[in-house]
Amino acid sequence: MDIPRRQALASLGALALTPWLPAHGQPAERPATPSLTEGPFYPQSLPADRDADLTRVAGRPGRAAGTPLEFTGRLLDRKSRPLAGRAIEIWHCDEFGRYHHVGTPEASGDASFQGWGEAFADGEGRFAFLTIKPPPYPGRTPHIHFTVSDGRRRVLTSQAFFEGERANERDFLYRSLGREAGLVTMRLESAGKGVRGALDVVVAA
Ligand SMILES: [Fe+2]
Repeated sequence: MDIPRRQALASLGALALTPWLPAHGQPAERPATPSLTEGPFYPQSLPADRDADLTRVAGRPGRAAGTPLEFTGRLLDRKSRPLAGRAIEIWHCDEFGRYHHVGTPEASGDASFQGWGEAFADGEGRFAFLTIKPPPYPGRTPHIHFTVSDGRRRVLTSQAFFEGERANERDFLYRSLGREAGLVTMRLESAGKGVRGALDVVVAA
């Protein structure tokens, strides 16, 4: 390979590794994930089983009812740099519309659903949860609450939504996002017996 061609390929490679590079050469900042309210259902105390698989509860037989959802994504800063090691927590209702660990008897919901889980971004910022696709509940379109922390404090609290849900446009929080809704809306595709969706979570600071 001659030198100019090798240099050209090297530049192409650099471009591929440098997303959001505008014509003037300065890395553009991508929009931060909008914040949304924590809501009233963050656990009062965290479950003993704190892993990233919400479809199983340690010590219990069976799996959570509902459609399995592989929820993956990346934790990034506004220059698309991975936030390796950062924690992301998620919580959402079970197949029967009930939140867990909020003071109501667990027997009133799906006891095989973990209700809350935590994952840590890898070296490329990637995280992965196995959960179920939450149903709507009165007044709300389907959504997954999440929060990101840097080990000492929360740096972002928001909610993730699903593309094509009829209730999205009637949901006051979804509507409040306006054009930013796209930054927290996942497109789902089939995956085995369930679905999967991915979301980049961009933290402002
Ligand atoms: Fe909620």
